[in-house]
Amino acid sequence: MHLECKHISKRYGSKLVLNDVSFTLGSSGLTLITGPNGSGKSTLLDILQGVTSQTSGEVVIDGKFVKRKIRAQVLLRQLQEESLYPTITVGEYLDFAKNVHSRRLSLQKPKRISLDEVYLKNFKALFKTSKIEEQFGTPMRLLSGGQRKLVVTVASLIRPQKILLLDEPFAGLSQLAASQLIPIIKNESKSRLIIVVDHELHDFQYSCDRVFHLREGHVSEVHQS
Ligand SMILES: Nc1ncnc2c1ncn2[C@@H]1O[C@H](COP(=O)(O)OP(=O)(O)OP(=O)(O)O)[C@@H](O)[C@H]1O
Ligand SMILES: [Mg+2]
Repeated sequence: MHLECKHISKRYGSKLVLNDVSFTLGSSGLTLITGPNGSGKSTLLDILQGVTSQTSGEVVIDGKFVKRKIRAQVLLRQLQEESLYPTITVGEYLDFAKNVHSRRLSLQKPKRISLDEVYLKNFKALFKTSKIEEQFGTPMRLLSGGQRKLVVTVASLIRPQKILLLDEPFAGLSQLAASQLIPIIKNESKSRLIIVVDHELHDFQYSCDRVFHLREGHVSEVHQS
């Protein structure tokens, strides 16, 4: 599923936050969008997700204009931890992320893989160093900020959508946890498109296939040598 931003502009009052932003991304791979605070990175994700409308321009998926409602079926914005039911445990949250499918997605008959298989295989080391492994029965709200962030990111990564948008997945993580998360995100991007919005993170940047920089409303591609 390839994604095109065509001449996207976004104005808040007199402020032009995005100014004619265009790029095309392939159906898999890892893209990083960086830029200073307030440069419009989250706004761009809001527009891709369809929760904010652009002032002009369009978002095109696989060559077609996709209505906002449908966009939510193919594109996932990192799950929001604020929306959690207060008593849900880590294990229940991950189980929910893995196994709950909208009617449209369930048409694809997702393979029901056991949770142990899913997260112990891919996330064991990460869950071990961040002490989450022993807290599967703990309510999400009792985790530390960094632990909660990690569980929410992992839950987003086990969702089936073909385009995944992650807003600052490394914020609040230790360097060790971040270094364990990078190859996991990289691996996930082999079969689908992952767009990460974050500040300039040197370790991560070198794992990305494409890097864009947003500044003064304009996007430019940073060429890596
Ligand atoms: N709903 C809104 N109404 C008015 N202005 C907004 C709104 N949302 C964002 N903005 C403005 O748009 C600009 C870009 O904000 P945005 O959150 O997209 O930046 P960002 O690049 O994600 O920054 P950060 O790195 O700090 O997360 C900011 O100047 C912000 O004040
Ligand atoms: Mg932001």
